[in-house]
Amino acid sequence: MKVILIEDYQTMSKKAANIVESQIILKPHSVLGLATGETVLGMYKEIVKSFENGDLDFSDIKTFNLDEYYGIDKENKRSYYYYMEENLFKHININNANIHIPDGMTSDIEEECKIYEEKIERCGGIDLQILGIGRNGHIGFNEPGCKFEALTHLVHLDKTTIKDNSRFFNSISEVPTKAISMGIKTIMNAKKVILLASGQEKAEALYKALRGNITPKVPASILQLHSDVTVIVDRDGASRL
Ligand code: GLP
Repeated sequence: MKVILIEDYQTMSKKAANIVESQIILKPHSVLGLATGETVLGMYKEIVKSFENGDLDFSDIKTFNLDEYYGIDKENKRSYYYYMEENLFKHININNANIHIPDGMTSDIEEECKIYEEKIERCGGIDLQILGIGRNGHIGFNEPGCKFEALTHLVHLDKTTIKDNSRFFNSISEVPTKAISMGIKTIMNAKKVILLASGQEKAEALYKALRGNITPKVPASILQLHSDVTVIVDRDGASRL
């Protein structure tokens, strides 16, 4: 595991964007695993800038998002579909058919998850998976106590996650309690992983994930067993390391 310690959020975002951009340039048919949340917003901004400068071509890039809230439709401004559209997809030349996000409104969860995995496999697997980390050590929406062997599945969100994510909703009661998420095994199958962490509130989770025992209690700790992980962390996020 490589840890890149960076001074601040802005520089961390640039570094992460740089890694994603290199992946796209070196392999124009790359399959990217994408994350949502506040941490990766700066990185998406940088990627959009590079696209606007003419440095990137997304026409053959395929993407798979980590997760989507269950029971929320694409048009809902809180959906991860909407987030991706607003913060990345509408600004770049990606082919719509190459974008994959779990359908939060599916009537057949099992089938939706199975098909999602099949699509990833058919595309040749994820070349580069981008991750943030939850305050409770979650990756994607794989909460403490998750099964390491799980593929894409329906998850019940942890109380801390519902509270943390309520900042994106009008009230805590509006936050969905379930989501469809890639499983830990899906994430571990990615060829390369980058994990971004910023701010004091992530310091404890990052410390446990990187230096603690490998345990489902800290889902991100499994990354210690992945052969190609780069953690990009700012000074506050690294304060416990
Ligand atoms: C969210 C997402 C994760 C994200 C994490 C951290 O709930 N499901 O993919 O990495 O929590 O989010 P943030 O970057 O907003 O702190």
